[in-house]
Amino acid sequence: MSILVTGGAGYIGSHTCVELLNKGEDIIVIDNFYNSKPEALKRVKEITGKDFQSYTCDILDKETLSAIFKENNITEVIHFAGLKAVGESCRLPLAYYHNNISGTVILLQVMEQFGVKKIVFSSSATVYGDSEIPYKEIYKTGNVTSPYGRTKFMIEEILKDVYRSDNDWSVALLRYFNPIGAHESGKIGEDPNGIPNNLVPYIAQVAIGKLAELPVYGNDYETPDGTGVRDYIHVTDLAVGHLKAVEFVRKSAGLEAINLGAGKGYSVLEVIAAFEKASGKKINYKFFDRRPGDIDMFYADAEKAEKLLGFRTKLSIDKMCEDTWRWQSDNPGGY
Ligand code: NAD
Ligand code: UFG
Repeated sequence: MSILVTGGAGYIGSHTCVELLNKGEDIIVIDNFYNSKPEALKRVKEITGKDFQSYTCDILDKETLSAIFKENNITEVIHFAGLKAVGESCRLPLAYYHNNISGTVILLQVMEQFGVKKIVFSSSATVYGDSEIPYKEIYKTGNVTSPYGRTKFMIEEILKDVYRSDNDWSVALLRYFNPIGAHESGKIGEDPNGIPNNLVPYIAQVAIGKLAELPVYGNDYETPDGTGVRDYIHVTDLAVGHLKAVEFVRKSAGLEAINLGAGKGYSVLEVIAAFEKASGKKINYKFFDRRPGDIDMFYADAEKAEKLLGFRTKLSIDKMCEDTWRWQSDNPGGY
């Protein structure tokens, strides 16, 4: 009995593999390595001292996917595989719709063919659009601002239809807030291609001297210090949330959307201060205009995760920055 992890070599996937293996779960990883490297899987093995089967496979390749399901006794799927850059999705919407939506439909077809009906899906807080904070799972979704966000919304809707058509399915739609940090060993972490889009990888590259200064997008938001506020969650906490979600889908059929966030927000300036403390480095920054599509502030209502999954985040913003810094300074060139 194995858990199939799609996109398992990626940032969140690799951390989740570590937690699954440490818990004694059997896993099978597939990835096309579009945005990751096989080295990440090697390091997962190093950290855990455990081996597992992995395949270079694109979820759009139905034939190979079917062969993998045939070869293995897969009982649940954690589905991370997808493209995730908001700005890029505005330039390349068709690539995003094809990869994320067609890829998920193919995966679901193969799951159905093999009678595997338990799935944990990587959704995003972006499905809420600009709503009242804290974001609650009962809020209306779909008011999204990017093709990327729309793929997450549409996949949620597809999974709802699949569940409506067959109540034997068990689906967890995990709506992540802002994952940051790295494994505390310093061996795995986020390894962005080119100039990072997201705040913390950018700060980390300023701290190591690869980038000169951080552009802070907007200082006139309606927040205590004028900069954007987000709910940052340590990637290891997030990974533990996936363990709990697998246990949840295993237990019973149903479909639940669940926020995974800390339930607390930090501003850009607060994150900079935490990173300076963790790294002992000065982070140069300069204010710029707001980034299109950004909103002032959001964070999760984290109660449902606690009630349904028994999950609550444990790791602080300081720990998130310390672990990011360890990963960045031990691996200045990434993997
Ligand atoms: P990531 O890019 O590091 O990992 C995704 C992995 O999927 C990569 O290894 C990539 O090579 C692989 N992949 C992409 N398309 C594939 C395909 N067609 N077939 C096989 N493999 C494919 O991203 P991540 O940060 O680990 O995110 C994982 C998931 O969580 C994504 O679905 C993402 O949209 C979602 N998510 C991420 C964030 C975040 O801030 N990181 C927030 C909300 C949701
Ligand atoms: N920011 C900067 N400078 C940067 C990068 C970001 O000031 O160089 C600011 C942003 O304006 C925002 C905050 O830092 O206020 C966080 O920005 P990120 O890009 O790190 O994260 P976002 O909240 O914009 O986006 C994240 C994920 C998306 C997801 C979204 C909603 O990256 O995938 O949360 O869940 F859609």
